[in-house]
Amino acid sequence: MREKQQLSAEFPTVRPRRLRSTPAMRRLVAETRLHPAELILPAFVREGITEPKPITSMPGVVQHTRDTLRRAAVEAAEAGLGGIMLFGVPEVQDAVGSEGTNPDGILQQAIRDVVAEVGDQLIVMSDLCLDEYTDHGHCGVLAADGSVDNDATLERYAEMAVVQADAGVHLVGPSGMMDGQIGVVRRALDEAGHQDTGILAYTAKYASAFFGPFREAVGSSLKGDRKAYQQDPANARESLRELELDVAEGADLVMVKPAMAYLDVLRQIADASPVPVSAYQVSGEYAMVEAAAANGWVDRERMIMETLTSIRRAGAEQILTYWAVEAAGMLR
Ligand code: PBG
Repeated sequence: MREKQQLSAEFPTVRPRRLRSTPAMRRLVAETRLHPAELILPAFVREGITEPKPITSMPGVVQHTRDTLRRAAVEAAEAGLGGIMLFGVPEVQDAVGSEGTNPDGILQQAIRDVVAEVGDQLIVMSDLCLDEYTDHGHCGVLAADGSVDNDATLERYAEMAVVQADAGVHLVGPSGMMDGQIGVVRRALDEAGHQDTGILAYTAKYASAFFGPFREAVGSSLKGDRKAYQQDPANARESLRELELDVAEGADLVMVKPAMAYLDVLRQIADASPVPVSAYQVSGEYAMVEAAAANGWVDRERMIMETLTSIRRAGAEQILTYWAVEAAGMLR
Protein backbone atom coordinates (compact mmCIF):
# COMPACT_ATOMS: atom_id res chain seq x y z
CA MET A 1 0.00 0.00 0.00
CA ARG A 2 2.72 2.35 1.10
CA GLU A 3 4.73 1.61 -2.04
CA LYS A 4 1.76 2.39 -4.19
CA GLN A 5 1.25 5.74 -2.53
CA GLN A 6 4.86 6.64 -3.21
CA LEU A 7 4.63 5.62 -6.86
CA SER A 8 1.54 7.66 -7.38
CA ALA A 9 2.93 10.75 -5.60
CA GLU A 10 2.22 13.81 -7.60
CA PHE A 11 2.24 17.59 -7.61
CA PRO A 12 2.78 19.48 -5.38
CA THR A 13 4.99 16.86 -3.68
CA VAL A 14 6.76 15.97 -6.90
CA ARG A 15 8.43 18.76 -8.81
CA PRO A 16 10.65 17.50 -11.69
CA ARG A 17 11.89 21.04 -12.21
CA ARG A 18 14.08 20.70 -9.06
CA LEU A 19 16.51 18.64 -11.13
CA ARG A 20 16.62 21.29 -13.86
CA SER A 21 17.02 24.29 -11.61
CA THR A 22 20.71 25.24 -11.97
CA PRO A 23 23.62 24.49 -14.30
CA ALA A 24 25.31 22.53 -11.48
CA MET A 25 22.21 20.43 -10.88
CA ARG A 26 21.71 19.75 -14.60
CA ARG A 27 25.35 18.78 -14.89
CA LEU A 28 25.00 16.35 -11.97
CA VAL A 29 22.02 14.52 -13.42
CA ALA A 30 22.91 14.51 -17.14
CA GLU A 31 22.53 10.96 -18.48
CA THR A 32 24.46 11.54 -21.67
CA ARG A 33 27.93 13.04 -21.90
CA LEU A 34 30.07 13.62 -24.94
CA HIS A 35 33.81 13.09 -24.98
CA PRO A 36 36.31 13.99 -27.73
CA ALA A 37 37.65 10.41 -27.74
CA GLU A 38 34.40 9.13 -29.20
CA LEU A 39 34.40 11.60 -32.09
CA ILE A 40 35.77 10.66 -35.52
CA LEU A 41 36.61 13.24 -38.19
CA PRO A 42 35.82 12.30 -41.82
CA ALA A 43 38.38 13.95 -44.13
CA PHE A 44 38.81 14.18 -47.90
CA VAL A 45 42.14 14.18 -49.70
CA ARG A 46 42.33 15.02 -53.38
CA GLU A 47 45.03 14.02 -55.80
CA GLY A 48 46.81 16.65 -57.87
CA ILE A 49 45.85 19.86 -56.07
CA THR A 50 48.26 22.31 -54.43
CA GLU A 51 45.73 24.26 -52.34
CA PRO A 52 42.84 22.89 -50.28
CA LYS A 53 39.60 23.18 -52.23
CA PRO A 54 36.44 24.30 -50.40
CA ILE A 55 33.34 22.11 -50.78
CA THR A 56 30.56 24.58 -51.59
CA SER A 57 27.73 22.51 -50.15
CA MET A 58 29.66 21.88 -46.92
CA PRO A 59 30.86 25.31 -45.74
CA GLY A 60 34.01 24.89 -43.63
CA VAL A 61 34.92 21.49 -45.10
CA VAL A 62 37.60 21.14 -47.80
CA GLN A 63 39.22 18.64 -50.08
CA HIS A 64 42.71 18.48 -48.62
CA THR A 65 46.07 18.33 -50.29
CA ARG A 66 48.33 15.63 -48.81
CA ASP A 67 50.04 18.37 -46.84
CA THR A 68 46.98 20.04 -45.38
CA LEU A 69 45.52 16.62 -44.57
CA ARG A 70 48.59 15.89 -42.49
CA ARG A 71 48.06 19.15 -40.64
CA ALA A 72 44.36 18.43 -40.14
CA ALA A 73 45.28 15.05 -38.68
CA VAL A 74 47.66 16.68 -36.20
CA GLU A 75 44.93 19.13 -35.24
CA ALA A 76 42.51 16.20 -34.75
CA ALA A 77 45.00 14.43 -32.51
CA GLU A 78 45.63 17.60 -30.50
CA ALA A 79 41.87 18.01 -30.07
CA GLY A 80 41.81 14.55 -28.48
CA LEU A 81 39.62 12.92 -31.13
CA GLY A 82 39.30 9.15 -31.28
CA GLY A 83 39.91 8.76 -34.99
CA ILE A 84 39.97 10.05 -38.52
CA MET A 85 38.16 8.50 -41.50
CA LEU A 86 39.91 9.12 -44.82
CA PHE A 87 38.31 9.43 -48.25
CA GLY A 88 40.40 9.63 -51.42
CA VAL A 89 39.51 11.74 -54.45
CA PRO A 90 41.55 10.46 -57.41
CA GLU A 91 42.42 12.35 -60.57
CA VAL A 92 41.36 9.48 -62.80
CA GLN A 93 38.17 7.45 -62.57
CA ASP A 94 37.38 4.36 -64.63
CA ALA A 95 34.81 1.58 -64.86
CA VAL A 96 36.38 -0.67 -62.20
CA GLY A 97 37.81 2.03 -59.93
CA SER A 98 41.46 1.11 -60.57
CA GLU A 99 42.86 3.87 -58.36
CA GLY A 100 41.19 2.27 -55.37
CA THR A 101 43.56 -0.66 -55.59
CA ASN A 102 46.65 1.21 -56.76
CA PRO A 103 49.18 0.87 -53.91
CA ASP A 104 50.28 4.42 -54.72
CA GLY A 105 46.72 5.74 -55.15
CA ILE A 106 45.84 8.92 -53.31
CA LEU A 107 44.05 7.21 -50.42
CA GLN A 108 46.91 4.79 -49.81
CA GLN A 109 49.41 7.67 -49.83
CA ALA A 110 47.22 9.61 -47.41
CA ILE A 111 46.95 6.61 -45.08
CA ARG A 112 50.75 6.34 -44.99
CA ASP A 113 51.10 10.08 -44.35
CA VAL A 114 48.57 10.18 -41.53
CA VAL A 115 49.72 6.97 -39.86
CA ALA A 116 53.31 8.25 -39.88
CA GLU A 117 52.23 11.59 -38.45
CA VAL A 118 49.69 10.65 -35.74
CA GLY A 119 49.18 6.89 -35.99
CA ASP A 120 49.95 6.30 -32.34
CA GLN A 121 47.44 8.92 -31.13
CA LEU A 122 44.55 8.51 -33.54
CA ILE A 123 42.80 5.47 -34.98
CA VAL A 124 43.21 5.85 -38.72
CA MET A 125 40.31 4.56 -40.83
CA SER A 126 39.65 4.46 -44.54
CA ASP A 127 36.54 4.29 -46.69
CA LEU A 128 36.50 0.96 -48.48
CA CYS A 129 34.24 1.59 -51.43
CA LEU A 130 34.52 2.14 -55.17
CA ASP A 131 32.26 5.15 -55.76
CA GLU A 132 35.09 7.68 -55.39
CA TYR A 133 37.02 5.79 -58.07
CA THR A 134 34.46 4.72 -60.68
CA ASP A 135 33.52 6.87 -63.66
CA HIS A 136 29.86 5.80 -63.32
CA GLY A 137 29.84 6.69 -59.61
CA HIS A 138 28.44 3.41 -58.31
CA CYS A 139 29.88 1.65 -55.27
CA GLY A 140 30.79 -1.43 -57.29
CA VAL A 141 31.54 -2.72 -60.75
CA LEU A 142 28.69 -3.03 -63.22
CA ALA A 143 27.23 -6.10 -64.89
CA ALA A 144 26.38 -6.05 -68.62
CA ASP A 145 22.84 -4.89 -67.85
CA GLY A 146 24.12 -1.88 -65.88
CA SER A 147 23.26 -3.25 -62.43
CA VAL A 148 25.91 -3.37 -59.71
CA ASP A 149 27.47 -6.84 -59.75
CA ASN A 150 27.64 -7.92 -56.11
CA ASP A 151 30.13 -10.79 -56.33
CA ALA A 152 32.46 -9.17 -58.85
CA THR A 153 32.54 -6.11 -56.58
CA LEU A 154 33.54 -8.27 -53.61
CA GLU A 155 36.75 -9.23 -55.44
CA ARG A 156 37.58 -5.55 -55.85
CA TYR A 157 36.85 -4.88 -52.15
CA ALA A 158 39.14 -7.74 -51.11
CA GLU A 159 41.98 -6.17 -53.08
CA MET A 160 41.21 -2.69 -51.71
CA ALA A 161 41.27 -3.97 -48.15
CA VAL A 162 44.73 -5.40 -48.64
CA VAL A 163 46.27 -2.27 -50.21
CA GLN A 164 44.77 -0.10 -47.47
CA ALA A 165 46.06 -2.43 -44.78
CA ASP A 166 49.46 -2.57 -46.49
CA ALA A 167 49.49 1.23 -46.18
CA GLY A 168 49.01 0.84 -42.43
CA VAL A 169 45.36 1.70 -41.81
CA HIS A 170 43.99 0.55 -38.45
CA LEU A 171 40.34 0.07 -39.44
CA VAL A 172 38.88 -0.35 -42.92
CA GLY A 173 35.33 0.91 -43.43
CA PRO A 174 33.46 -1.13 -46.06
CA SER A 175 30.59 1.19 -47.04
CA GLY A 176 29.23 -0.27 -50.29
CA MET A 177 26.41 -2.45 -48.86
CA MET A 178 27.36 -5.47 -50.97
CA ASP A 179 26.17 -8.78 -49.53
CA GLY A 180 29.02 -10.72 -47.97
CA GLN A 181 31.45 -7.77 -47.97
CA ILE A 182 32.54 -8.09 -44.35
CA GLY A 183 33.39 -11.78 -44.64
CA VAL A 184 35.28 -11.32 -47.88
CA VAL A 185 37.27 -8.40 -46.50
CA ARG A 186 38.06 -10.28 -43.27
CA ARG A 187 39.32 -13.29 -45.21
CA ALA A 188 41.42 -11.19 -47.56
CA LEU A 189 43.02 -9.32 -44.67
CA ASP A 190 43.78 -12.52 -42.79
CA GLU A 191 45.24 -14.24 -45.84
CA ALA A 192 47.54 -11.26 -46.37
CA GLY A 193 48.76 -11.42 -42.77
CA HIS A 194 46.72 -8.42 -41.66
CA GLN A 195 44.82 -10.19 -38.89
CA ASP A 196 45.26 -7.11 -36.67
CA THR A 197 43.59 -4.72 -39.10
CA GLY A 198 40.00 -4.22 -37.94
CA ILE A 199 36.71 -3.62 -39.71
CA LEU A 200 34.30 -0.79 -39.01
CA ALA A 201 31.30 -2.07 -40.96
CA TYR A 202 28.78 0.31 -42.46
CA THR A 203 26.05 -2.07 -41.33
CA ALA A 204 22.78 -0.17 -41.63
CA LYS A 205 23.27 2.24 -44.48
CA TYR A 206 20.26 3.78 -46.14
CA ALA A 207 19.72 5.04 -49.69
CA SER A 208 19.58 8.59 -48.40
CA ALA A 209 19.18 12.08 -49.83
CA PHE A 210 21.31 13.19 -46.87
CA PHE A 211 24.43 12.04 -48.77
CA GLY A 212 23.87 14.81 -51.33
CA PRO A 213 26.76 17.15 -50.46
CA PHE A 214 29.18 14.17 -50.22
CA ARG A 215 28.82 13.70 -53.98
CA GLU A 216 30.45 17.09 -54.46
CA ALA A 217 33.01 16.29 -51.78
CA VAL A 218 34.32 13.27 -53.69
CA GLY A 219 33.59 14.50 -57.21
CA SER A 220 31.16 11.65 -57.80
CA SER A 221 29.60 11.39 -61.23
CA LEU A 222 26.68 9.22 -60.10
CA LYS A 223 23.54 9.45 -62.14
CA GLY A 224 20.59 7.59 -60.74
CA ASP A 225 20.59 6.19 -57.22
CA ARG A 226 21.81 3.38 -54.97
CA LYS A 227 18.41 1.96 -54.06
CA ALA A 228 19.27 -1.52 -55.36
CA TYR A 229 21.99 -1.93 -52.73
CA GLN A 230 21.49 0.59 -49.92
CA GLN A 231 18.53 0.12 -47.59
CA ASP A 232 15.02 1.52 -48.02
CA PRO A 233 14.34 4.32 -45.50
CA ALA A 234 10.98 2.65 -44.85
CA ASN A 235 12.60 -0.36 -43.19
CA ALA A 236 14.09 -0.94 -39.73
CA ARG A 237 13.91 -4.72 -39.38
CA GLU A 238 16.46 -5.45 -42.08
CA SER A 239 19.01 -3.39 -40.16
CA LEU A 240 18.94 -6.03 -37.44
CA ARG A 241 19.47 -8.71 -40.09
CA GLU A 242 22.42 -6.75 -41.48
CA LEU A 243 23.78 -6.49 -37.93
CA GLU A 244 23.56 -10.25 -37.43
CA LEU A 245 25.33 -10.91 -40.73
CA ASP A 246 28.08 -8.34 -40.24
CA VAL A 247 28.88 -9.57 -36.75
CA ALA A 248 28.92 -13.18 -37.94
CA GLU A 249 31.22 -12.20 -40.82
CA GLY A 250 33.69 -10.52 -38.47
CA ALA A 251 32.79 -6.84 -38.02
CA ASP A 252 34.72 -5.32 -35.11
CA LEU A 253 32.47 -2.27 -34.94
CA VAL A 254 29.17 -1.57 -36.69
CA MET A 255 27.70 1.68 -37.94
CA VAL A 256 24.33 3.27 -38.62
CA LYS A 257 24.17 5.93 -41.31
CA PRO A 258 22.79 8.61 -41.64
CA ALA A 259 22.32 9.38 -37.96
CA MET A 260 19.60 11.87 -37.13
CA ALA A 261 16.81 10.59 -39.36
CA TYR A 262 17.57 7.03 -38.17
CA LEU A 263 17.79 7.37 -34.37
CA ASP A 264 15.19 4.61 -33.94
CA VAL A 265 17.33 2.24 -35.99
CA LEU A 266 20.37 3.29 -34.00
CA ARG A 267 18.59 2.50 -30.72
CA GLN A 268 17.55 -0.94 -31.95
CA ILE A 269 21.04 -1.76 -33.18
CA ALA A 270 22.61 -0.47 -29.96
CA ASP A 271 20.30 -2.69 -27.90
CA ALA A 272 21.13 -5.78 -29.95
CA SER A 273 24.79 -5.37 -30.88
CA PRO A 274 27.56 -7.35 -29.17
CA VAL A 275 30.17 -4.96 -30.66
CA PRO A 276 30.60 -1.16 -30.41
CA VAL A 277 28.08 0.89 -32.38
CA SER A 278 29.00 4.02 -34.33
CA ALA A 279 26.81 6.51 -36.15
CA TYR A 280 27.70 8.78 -39.07
CA GLN A 281 26.33 12.32 -38.98
CA VAL A 282 26.52 12.71 -42.74
CA SER A 283 27.14 15.56 -45.15
CA GLY A 284 23.47 16.54 -45.52
CA GLU A 285 23.01 16.72 -41.76
CA TYR A 286 26.00 19.03 -41.58
CA ALA A 287 24.87 21.15 -44.53
CA MET A 288 21.36 21.57 -43.15
CA VAL A 289 22.54 23.06 -39.87
CA GLU A 290 25.23 25.20 -41.50
CA ALA A 291 22.75 26.63 -43.99
CA ALA A 292 20.14 27.43 -41.35
CA ALA A 293 22.81 28.99 -39.13
CA ALA A 294 24.18 31.07 -42.02
CA ASN A 295 20.70 32.53 -42.39
CA GLY A 296 20.61 33.35 -38.69
CA TRP A 297 17.69 30.97 -38.21
CA VAL A 298 19.23 28.71 -35.55
CA ASP A 299 21.93 28.90 -32.88
CA ARG A 300 24.70 26.99 -34.64
CA GLU A 301 26.74 25.82 -31.65
CA ARG A 302 23.75 24.73 -29.59
CA MET A 303 22.42 22.89 -32.61
CA ILE A 304 25.72 21.04 -33.08
CA MET A 305 25.84 19.91 -29.47
CA GLU A 306 22.17 18.98 -29.41
CA THR A 307 22.43 16.82 -32.52
CA LEU A 308 25.54 15.05 -31.20
CA THR A 309 23.95 14.51 -27.78
CA SER A 310 20.84 13.03 -29.41
CA ILE A 311 22.91 10.61 -31.47
CA ARG A 312 24.85 9.59 -28.38
CA ARG A 313 21.63 9.23 -26.35
CA ALA A 314 20.13 6.99 -29.04
CA GLY A 315 23.00 4.58 -28.48
CA ALA A 316 26.01 5.54 -30.59
CA GLU A 317 29.32 5.03 -28.83
CA GLN A 318 31.31 6.70 -31.59
CA ILE A 319 30.13 9.50 -33.86
CA LEU A 320 31.61 10.43 -37.22
CA THR A 321 31.01 14.14 -37.66
CA TYR A 322 32.46 16.93 -39.77
CA TRP A 323 32.27 19.08 -36.61
CA ALA A 324 34.51 16.68 -34.63
CA VAL A 325 37.38 19.11 -34.00
CA GLU A 326 35.13 22.07 -33.25
CA ALA A 327 32.85 19.99 -31.00
CA ALA A 328 35.87 18.65 -29.09
CA GLY A 329 36.88 22.27 -28.53
CA MET A 330 33.45 23.10 -27.13
CA LEU A 331 33.69 20.14 -24.75
CA ARG A 332 36.83 21.38 -23.04
C1 PBG B 1 30.43 5.58 -49.97
C2 PBG B 1 30.12 6.60 -48.93
C3 PBG B 1 29.18 7.62 -49.00
C4 PBG B 1 29.29 8.33 -47.80
C5 PBG B 1 30.29 7.73 -47.04
N1 PBG B 1 30.77 6.64 -47.75
C6 PBG B 1 28.29 8.03 -50.11
C7 PBG B 1 27.19 7.13 -50.55
O1 PBG B 1 27.03 6.02 -50.08
O2 PBG B 1 26.42 7.57 -51.43
C8 PBG B 1 28.48 9.52 -47.43
C9 PBG B 1 29.03 10.37 -46.32
C10 PBG B 1 28.33 11.67 -46.18
O3 PBG B 1 27.31 11.96 -46.83
O4 PBG B 1 28.81 12.48 -45.36
N2 PBG B 1 31.79 5.66 -50.37
